[in-house]
Amino acid sequence: MEIFRVQGGGHLVGEVRVGGAKNSILKLMAIALLAPGRTVLHNAPRIADVAIMSEVLRRLGCQVEVKPDSEEDCSTDSVCIDVPEDVGTEADYDLVRRLRASINVLGPLLARRGHVKVAHPGGDAIGSRGLDYHIAGLRRMGAEITSEHGFVIARAERLHGASIVLEFPSVGATENILAAAVLAKGCTVIDNAAREPEIGNIVAMLNGMGARVSGAGSSTLEVEGVEELTPVTHRTVPDRIVAGTWAYAAAIAQGDVLIRGADASHLRVALDKLAHAGARMTDLGADPIHGGFRVQMTQRPRAVDVVTLPFPGFATDMLPMAIALASVSEGPSLMTENVFDARFMFANEMARLGAEIRTDGHHAVVRGKEWLSGAPVRATDIRAGAGLVIAALRAEGFTEVSDIHHVDRGYPDFATQLQKLGAQVERVQVAEPELGV
Ligand code: EPU
Repeated sequence: MEIFRVQGGGHLVGEVRVGGAKNSILKLMAIALLAPGRTVLHNAPRIADVAIMSEVLRRLGCQVEVKPDSEEDCSTDSVCIDVPEDVGTEADYDLVRRLRASINVLGPLLARRGHVKVAHPGGDAIGSRGLDYHIAGLRRMGAEITSEHGFVIARAERLHGASIVLEFPSVGATENILAAAVLAKGCTVIDNAAREPEIGNIVAMLNGMGARVSGAGSSTLEVEGVEELTPVTHRTVPDRIVAGTWAYAAAIAQGDVLIRGADASHLRVALDKLAHAGARMTDLGADPIHGGFRVQMTQRPRAVDVVTLPFPGFATDMLPMAIALASVSEGPSLMTENVFDARFMFANEMARLGAEIRTDGHHAVVRGKEWLSGAPVRATDIRAGAGLVIAALRAEGFTEVSDIHHVDRGYPDFATQLQKLGAQVERVQVAEPELGV
């Protein structure tokens, strides 16, 4: 098995480039299913999840080719997807359980083919993660949906427009309902829709394909259904969570890091928190090549409180980074998690690094220490893994982070990028420990 071995204590200095967002590319790949023909998606991150989503699409009969982007510095890929007229309608559990975003084929396939069978992904390490909002929205558009033997099965001869109010601005439910509504008959209004930049990116792609969607970035999306869509070439939005991870890493390691290709306007609350913690922040604009932002931290961070909320609030995916920062800050920080019920599982691993964290329901109080203490820890999900690695930058001695396949799902070349910034981080192969009898 592979682990990250981190020797804490150094500063992070230099420049790092952020590619497209995991939570954008996977959804754009599913959106491609709405139009027969060739879709090309640029700025795709080199992460394990793109390979899994490619396999999901191949099993639906698509041809998928992933090759280096010709532009920029070749650290990102282009994903070319050829979608057949008679695209398949079934996504099995063996892939869906490895990649929850596979559920995003539900809306496009229902709209295109009139029937679809997708395995229920179940919960995961960060929470229970239901599908009820997806299902309720599609039902309002006329779909008949049943749940049988672990599959969600949906049918509708032709979906019709509907007025849908989401109970919670769920990212996945907004995406599935939106993807179904673009080919439905008539107008659909989605109220309390998610406002994440990745949704705006989907809307831009859909409109490029001939869809008629307005309201991106607001809580109300209006969709005028059309008869058919045509494939496009489209660019993935930069990964705001990866960018935020670099920003928090720079603050924890008291460094000076320029994060190129990121869009600071997608991270306003998270970056404001860093400024309150004492970092100097410089916004270089949103140009995908030359833009980005710089984080300089010259002293121990001051404690800041964090409340996670849907966009534009503090992203739940950044909570582990906030806890890592709080663990080495001066003073106590109050963390409140409002999106996933099991995010604080991460606190148990942080405790192994000596972090003082007391959780109570969806709150945690973190009492910062000047130094953490290196120890073997386990990544329980993508963001927890990244949080442990950046916390280890400020831990005395060595930290060994195992189960790093989680981190590979979302962070391209994480260890190499950290090394380039001067961190003592290695990716090493170790033998699985043998169990005694
Ligand atoms: N929820 C329901 N019922 C539903 C849908 C959602 O109860 O039908 C609940 C969830 O259980 C959760 C909350 O609503 O408590 C929010 O879930 P949401 O649907 O917004 O999340 P998601 O679409 O499943 C995406 C990202 C997550 C990110 C969340 C929130 C992808 C592939 N995943 O998940 O990213 O945390 O939005 O921003 O886009 C990650 O990248 O590490 C990750 C977990």
